[in-house]
Amino acid sequence: MARISANKRGKSKLHSATIRVDLRREIGAIDKNIYGHFVEHLGRCVEEGIWVGEDSAIPNEDGIRSDVAGALRAISIPVIRWPGGCFADAYNWRDGIGPRQQRPRRVNLWWAKEEDNQFGTDEFVRFCRMTGAEPYICGNVGSGSPREMVEWLEYCNYAGDTALARQRAANGSPQPYGVKYWGVGNENWGCGGAYEASEYAREYRRYATYLRRMDPAIELVACGYTPEWNLEFLEKLGRPDLVDHLSIHHYYASGPAQGFSDEEYYNLFVKALQLEEMIEQTTGLLSFFGRGARRIKLAIDEWGAWHPQATLETHLYQESTLRDAVCAAVLLDVFNRHCNAISMTNIAQTINVLQCLIQTAGEQMWLTPTYHVYNLYQPHMQATALEAEIECASMELANDEQRRSLPLVSGSASVSPDRQRLCVTFSNLHLDDKAEVSVHFVGAGRSADAKLRVLVGERADSANGSQAPEAVRVQSQDVQYKDGVVSCVLPPHSTAALTVTTHPGL
Ligand code: AHR
Repeated sequence: MARISANKRGKSKLHSATIRVDLRREIGAIDKNIYGHFVEHLGRCVEEGIWVGEDSAIPNEDGIRSDVAGALRAISIPVIRWPGGCFADAYNWRDGIGPRQQRPRRVNLWWAKEEDNQFGTDEFVRFCRMTGAEPYICGNVGSGSPREMVEWLEYCNYAGDTALARQRAANGSPQPYGVKYWGVGNENWGCGGAYEASEYAREYRRYATYLRRMDPAIELVACGYTPEWNLEFLEKLGRPDLVDHLSIHHYYASGPAQGFSDEEYYNLFVKALQLEEMIEQTTGLLSFFGRGARRIKLAIDEWGAWHPQATLETHLYQESTLRDAVCAAVLLDVFNRHCNAISMTNIAQTINVLQCLIQTAGEQMWLTPTYHVYNLYQPHMQATALEAEIECASMELANDEQRRSLPLVSGSASVSPDRQRLCVTFSNLHLDDKAEVSVHFVGAGRSADAKLRVLVGERADSANGSQAPEAVRVQSQDVQYKDGVVSCVLPPHSTAALTVTTHPGL
């Protein structure tokens, strides 16, 4: 049984926190792909969520929903991983090109449905162009072959006059797509072929050799897993130069999506934050193997809350609450702090599946609380992360196996390339109490303009829906920047973004 040894439910109190941001203490550049996304042929993610077809009454551009593409463009999504997930290692890319009425209908082996292949490579790249994102394609190692994947790459990126380049041109794109990111399988220790690490290393070497030969400009993502798997894979591979990114996944749950207990509320953060340990472990290994000019970076290309209600029967649909969003904010702060090691992350999954940003019901569409977090965090993309020292109260959580101390305020900070805009994102994790937060900027000027936006909702399990699309919403709060300090009071279970625009010469 967990014990919560801070204020119990009841009258809201105040706890206080100080965040000290030192402009001289830079961590490194935040890759914009840290704010990336993931789309799989699963439930209503692609079908209905993205693809409605040209003849649909839902407004669309060449079959792709205009409302969804517009909402994603508005938060500058940098990269989208597709077509899976488990689906990827059962997918034959040739099924998804050419005249749509001639495309085969197949069994979707993993997600209890049939796949009509109306949304294939050309549609995916078009969707990426509409949203402004880079495409990231995950290839088939489990049931495919190096030849199939190399030909997929040729179809996408080859600029010459081959049969596949002509086929792409005939399908609407004489210009190569220039797809930069290629995943060599997905979860190949499980749904991607149930390989041993050493077997996957052998397969990976074959795939990577030919993929690199076809297009040396691409970046390859290898499938990682536990520290033991990662170590054995890299040892047996013996060619760290063939790997640009190693991927790991992290899903977490604590109680139901809505109607959770206080303990379950706090434990979701504890479980989510186990990812920070995974990041530190994996980073240590990667710096050992990827020495020299060619560094291997970490791609956390699936992560998020996976609640018990998201099953095969519900097509992995779940309510997306304010608790999930604050939890995502806490992990995005972790990613910012570890930006020197992390090249990409992809929350799972963009629309209607797991911790999505957007939900739809036929022609209706609404934004989840998690969408608003990505919107608030936009200034961090391609900025330089700064050290943010946080002093705050902690929640002591204990169960029979372990004792955990959960800091009640999380945060991260960055400065824009022109050094005129500072952004500090921070969350109040307390379920009941407000947080009085003062942010101190060390090394900044005496005067600046400050803007604070806060994601709020009545309850931690509040969610948006077609009837209440703004139950969880962003509110502006008036704040003053005075002698390098901004103070505010955050409601319980909320996330804030403070942007400070200084005058030239910072
Ligand atoms: O995101 C749902 C599934 O979770 C993915 O298909 C798989 O990679 C992971 O296990």
